[in-house]
Amino acid sequence: MTLAIGVDIGGTKVAAGVIDTSTGTIIDRLRQPTPAHDGDAMAQAVTDVVRDLAGRHPVVAVGLGVPGFVNRTRDDILTAPNLALPSRPLAALVREGTGLPTTLENDANAATWAEYRFGAATGYDDVLMITAGTGIGGGAVLGGQLHRGGAGTALEVGHLRVVPDGLPCGCGKRGCWESYGSGSAMTRSARALVAAGAPGSEALAARAGGDAGRLDGSMVTEAALAGDPLSRRVLAEAGAWLGAGIASLVAVLDPSVIVVGGGLGDAGVLVLDPLCEAYADLVSPRGPAPVPPVVAASLGNDAGMVGAADLAAREVGALIS
Ligand code: BGC
Ligand code: NA
Ligand code: ZN
Repeated sequence: MTLAIGVDIGGTKVAAGVIDTSTGTIIDRLRQPTPAHDGDAMAQAVTDVVRDLAGRHPVVAVGLGVPGFVNRTRDDILTAPNLALPSRPLAALVREGTGLPTTLENDANAATWAEYRFGAATGYDDVLMITAGTGIGGGAVLGGQLHRGGAGTALEVGHLRVVPDGLPCGCGKRGCWESYGSGSAMTRSARALVAAGAPGSEALAARAGGDAGRLDGSMVTEAALAGDPLSRRVLAEAGAWLGAGIASLVAVLDPSVIVVGGGLGDAGVLVLDPLCEAYADLVSPRGPAPVPPVVAASLGNDAGMVGAADLAAREVGALIS
């Protein structure tokens, strides 16, 4: 049994776990809010949770799943649209603070790897995964290998331009997919509807205590689950954007399965049904070849943590052998 620590650094929380990498099982876990606007405080929060867990279990390595462009050698973040970076490379800071071998992985790549090894994509060699939360992340396992690309930034699909001169994105460009199909996009449109007093926005306004700015993604999801038609429409719109983008990505990658995960997945069929409808409508014709199925992530929000840990353990194994 090889134990490793995986940390998923999200826009709102740092979730860490000790993973048995032979099965993907989480045997211990901790979480903390992310100081998203202070990179050094974020690095310190990560170091603290890792030290805490490492004090309780004999771990061999640490893998950090980060919401940003990770370099090919997986020790530094090149750029992160929705996260402040520390003043020195994150992997080095955590390694120095914990004494443990530490590698980075893009959060969505890590989640993809976890679903491929232990989750919804086991048994497939060509996998596309999309995570929709604060941003939109992507990952691909092609021929059984995690695809990283030349600089390490393959599958940064959240920044595909889907609308010419569209909404501004955290990456500095406009019209990116994640400005339309992510959890933050959903929150943004819900806030705009409430602020404008749109017909049917009363239920959302009530949840926000009358202040549109206080609305968050979970309020919209809860209202939708409780049956609020406007919230359902907002979720369905994000789902349709996701489905349309996935149809284009299938044209590029020809995966055998598509896994959908991330916080937006908490809304279940309210996002997945409109997603699948748009996908089925837009995917290019394949003759008699089957249209690859879309499935929900089975490791839920733990996928990034589990995948980062397994990849880090493999890296250490590779260095030893
Ligand atoms: C980032 C990706 C990340 C995704 C999901 C995007 O904004 O560019 O690196 O995987 O958000 O967190
Ligand atoms: Na990725
Ligand atoms: Zn962008």
